[in-house]
Amino acid sequence: MHRSARFHRLFLAATAVGIIAAGCERRPSTESADTGTGEILVGFYGSLTGDGASFGLSSRDGAQLAVEEVNAAGGVLGGRMLRLLVEDDQSRPEEASNAVTKLITQDKVIAVIGEVASRRTLAAAPVAQKFQVPMITPASTNERVTEVGDYIFRVCFIDPFQGEVIAKFAYTDLKARRAAILKDIQQDYSVGLSDAVTRTFTALGGQVLDTVSYSSGDADFKAALTKIRGLKPDALFVPGYYNEVAIIARQARELGMTIPILGGDGWVGDALANGREALANTFISDHYHGDNPAAVVQNFVKSYRTKFGKDPDSIAALGYDSVKVLADALTRAGSTQNTQLRAAIAASDVAGVTGQLKMNAKRNVDKPAVISEVTFVNGAIKYVYRATVSPS
Ligand code: PHE
Repeated sequence: MHRSARFHRLFLAATAVGIIAAGCERRPSTESADTGTGEILVGFYGSLTGDGASFGLSSRDGAQLAVEEVNAAGGVLGGRMLRLLVEDDQSRPEEASNAVTKLITQDKVIAVIGEVASRRTLAAAPVAQKFQVPMITPASTNERVTEVGDYIFRVCFIDPFQGEVIAKFAYTDLKARRAAILKDIQQDYSVGLSDAVTRTFTALGGQVLDTVSYSSGDADFKAALTKIRGLKPDALFVPGYYNEVAIIARQARELGMTIPILGGDGWVGDALANGREALANTFISDHYHGDNPAAVVQNFVKSYRTKFGKDPDSIAALGYDSVKVLADALTRAGSTQNTQLRAAIAASDVAGVTGQLKMNAKRNVDKPAVISEVTFVNGAIKYVYRATVSPS
């Protein structure tokens, strides 16, 4: 770590201890943070480096595109421009919490966008809640994330629904009856999604033969896969993140396992392409599909391509949507003041790229999931649209 960065963090920690030691529960006023004129500072934190870099970069790019569109259209609150202040948490939960502390206490942002991985949002959300600064996570689907408090929102569906979607697809469309699960015990996302898949698959009449755990960063899954192969499942659920999924798919195929492999949104990341041909016969639930002909989707895809020279993934779409929700809420609140802004976000009902963003009472958004078949064509991942599944 850079020396001054370390010093900076020690300083922040010391300040935090000081506040607690003084028994000072009073939160720094966010009302004085914003002068009512000039740029409006919006915090963003994400994994721009480290094993989750694909998540951080996509969410940042999507958010930045939305900021530029809002500003090009005249800004908010009588012509004020939004400015995104970006912090890298290096894919580490402690850094996520430090980043949000810095954005709120030093930069005095009026709201925070982030994170993608549920574990890191769960680490940082208590900070936003403590200071009563609204946080909107684009993509964290673990159910507990918005339970942290009334200042924590998301613009995506939650894993109890996502698990249901994947399990139903396996049972109904792929006719799977005997399944195994490989889950990442380091990740709240993976643990929660694994539970949700098990619940639905079992309720439908399927059987989960075994659930085997691994840890983020593992690279050898042969022992676990050999054990699973011995049980003769007709489907394998891997509710994990893209790095490990790519390796698991390859090793499963090397062991002669040709069964369908299914997962969730966590597969969406650049390094999934390392799975190459092993990705044939794999399926995921996701938040959006770029082929959706709706104007809001096609305009987004076009602008993103023009700006970044590549297709947006679902995380970019959610990053974009979170800023659009914030801008809409600022306009309706007529202010950056935290309690008014919080209330306005809670009342959101915005047409997003990933669907209608109508905030429910639990600060989540109920919207359809997309099922895609993952394919590897001409050296790149291609998501083939299979179905849209609405919440019941
Ligand atoms: N839903 C994942 C989580 O909560 C993050 C994610 C969202 C990953 C969308 C990829 C695409 O950890």
